[in-house]
Order: sequence, then structure tokens, then C-alpha cells
Amino acid sequence: MLRINSARLKHDLEELGSIGRTPQGGVSRPSFSDADMQARRWLMDRITAAGMEARVDAAGNIFGRWQTGSPVVLAGSHIDSVPNGGRFDGALGVLTGLECLRRIKEEGTRLRHPLELVAFTDEEGAFGGFFGSYAFTGVLKAEDIPKARDSTGLRIADAMGRHGLDAMRAPTARRDFGQIRAYVELHIEQGPVLEARRIPIGVVDAIVGIHRYGITFRGRADHAGPTPMRDRKDALLGASDLVLKGRDLAITAGSPASRITVGVVQLNPGVANIVPAEAYLTYEIREQSAELLRLLAEKSQGLAADIARAWGLEVSIETILQIDPVPLAEEVKAAIAAAAQEVGLPHLRLPAMAGHDAQVVGRVAPAGMIFVPSQDGRSHSPLEFTADEDVERGANVLLLTLLKLATE
Ligand code: HGY
Ligand code: MN
Ligand code: MN
Repeated sequence: MLRINSARLKHDLEELGSIGRTPQGGVSRPSFSDADMQARRWLMDRITAAGMEARVDAAGNIFGRWQTGSPVVLAGSHIDSVPNGGRFDGALGVLTGLECLRRIKEEGTRLRHPLELVAFTDEEGAFGGFFGSYAFTGVLKAEDIPKARDSTGLRIADAMGRHGLDAMRAPTARRDFGQIRAYVELHIEQGPVLEARRIPIGVVDAIVGIHRYGITFRGRADHAGPTPMRDRKDALLGASDLVLKGRDLAITAGSPASRITVGVVQLNPGVANIVPAEAYLTYEIREQSAELLRLLAEKSQGLAADIARAWGLEVSIETILQIDPVPLAEEVKAAIAAAAQEVGLPHLRLPAMAGHDAQVVGRVAPAGMIFVPSQDGRSHSPLEFTADEDVERGANVLLLTLLKLATE
């Protein structure tokens, strides 16, 4: 039975993992940063070295293939990372995909559908989220591009422009959906379930929905000394109130799968002796149920308005990302389960609580995800780790899954 070359895959993972390495042993490769561009060049070279044609589309998505024709079976994920994240998130799916295509090409296996590797741009959302897979699936609208900026205010148009890419052309990256037979993404679980259950392979059932907002409370800048406590319009009080009440909302009105997270808080003017005039926060809701996600979003907007009134503030809410939960394709799940069975590996069906490009592609074509265990369930941290044996087992299940989908 065909197997991956695990030494070659390990070497790739270590080499890519060294690009953008941080002192704590993590990786920082936000989209279109110097580290991301170095990683992109490295991946293009590896694709070419494998005797495949490397191509970049108008959204910066990187592809690799050696055969022509369609529909194609796609394998991939993303190589951008969160700041000081782990070296497996996304990279594992791209590099196991590359290794599987190399092995199949080396073997000369006859395929009914060509295979294609993809690394999607900005899955991690440095500029909002899913820029590459949104463009690939026709979701990205030209009018949304000028608004896309990172937490420092850098616009994606400028970030891409620095590297000769015209962000406004990204919507032309839309692929004709009839050209996609299936998409399979191998990813670390980023949670504790597989490790706790000692099960090496996860077959992802559905992927969580995410509503991410930028919320700004506006008060009044005042001197921190002479201004009495009761006379203040302190924007940070509103933001702090929402952080605590948002958490309560997820726990009291949500399900055990509900998540509400404030990851960014920025104050203006942000100096010690001025009462904060403005407080900007990112407020993100996740849920496996589309209706509950919508309900929590509605309640959150009401909560923000009530809090602003209570503290004498103004509040404005902008939508950064809104993506519904997506069930993955039964036929791809069945192919993954059969592949795991074939190599004698126990497998478990489970939901994905992190977002993935598979939920974007899965809205236009049959998509599936394979999970492998994360040590201590950690991710988006330098402590993110998956053992060599789990990498190898996941990659071999991906290899057999791709063969099933591309030869049927
Ligand atoms: O946010 C997420 O769930 C993914 O890591 N981008
Ligand atoms: Mn990821
Ligand atoms: Mn991630």
C-alpha cells in the first residue's frame, strides 16, 4: 500500500517551521509579513522541486499541480500563522498535501481526477479572515477590500501592494466550482478530545460558525486628576462591562459549545493621565448552531447598546467576519473513515471549534477534514505540538483519502 515519505515530510515541517520562528519557539507569519513572503517563496520552491507547476492566483493563493484537466481533487490549508503561534496550524495540511501529491506522482498512479495543492491566503484573519478562500469561492466582494486592515491599521491593499500584488484584483481568483471534485484538509485538532480518547484520527463532522465584530465605545477625554469620578465618560468602563457581560451571556444563554472572546482592546488616546475617550475591542462569537449564533449576536448588540447608555457613551459596531457553521460532505467523511479503516486506525467523528478554509470551500464543493491529536490540546501558542507518529498516521490517511476521491 502506498505510504508517505515521513522523513521528507518531517524535514519540510521543520524547515517551514523555522521561517518566522520566535524566541519562544513559536512562529509569527501574519499574511504578507516578511516571514510570510519568505514562507511563500519556500513553498513555491518545494512545489517546483517536486516537478509540479507552482502558481499564485490574484488573491495570493498558492497552487501546485502536475497534470492538466478538471475537476480536481484539492488538498491543502494555509501557511500564514497567528502571532507567536505554532508550527503545525495550517502548515501541516499544506505540507502533508504536498507530500501526498509527491508520492502519487512518483508512483505514477493513474488518476481519474487530477490532484492540486492549495495554500490559502490569510486564513488566520490578520486582515479579517479567509481572504484567500473567500476570493477562491467568490465570496470576496471588491467593495469590502479597501476596508480590510490589520490591528495596526495596515490595509491589505497596502500590505499586498508592497509585494506587487493588487488586492482589488483578488475577486478574479474565483474558481469555477464545477472544476472542484473535492477538497480535503488535514489539520491539528487544536483541542483535547483525540488525545484524551487516545484516538489518532478525527473525521470532522461540521465546522463552527464565527461572528466577529469591531466594537467602539466613545466617551470623552478628560484630565485624570481634576475630573470627578461621577462626571466621567470613560470609554474603557463600557468596554470592560461588555467583556464581563459577554462572558456571562455565553455561559447563561449559550450552549456548552458557545464561545465569546474579546482578543483585542485598543484605547485612545491611551495615556496614563487622560480618561479614555475611545475603547475599540474585537468581540467574537462562535457556535455550532446557526440559530443560537444569530441569537447570541442579537443579544450582544442589545447588550452593547444598554451598556453604552448606562455609562453615558456612544457605541458603534462593525462586522469583521460572519460565517455560518458548515456541515462537511458525507462522501468525503466516508472516504476519510474508509482510509483510516484501511490502515487499521481508530477514528472518531467530532466537530471543529476552530474555523478553517474547509468551511468556506465546503459551501461550494464537497469538503472534508482530517484531525490529528494536539498535545495537551494546545494551539495558537508556541506550545502547539503533534507527535511525528500522529503526523505520519494523518498523512497516510490523507494519502489514501485523496486516492479514493481521485480514482473513483
Ligand atoms: O480562528 C480560528 O479559528 C482559525 O484558527 N483561524
Ligand atoms: Mn488553521
Ligand atoms: Mn489557526
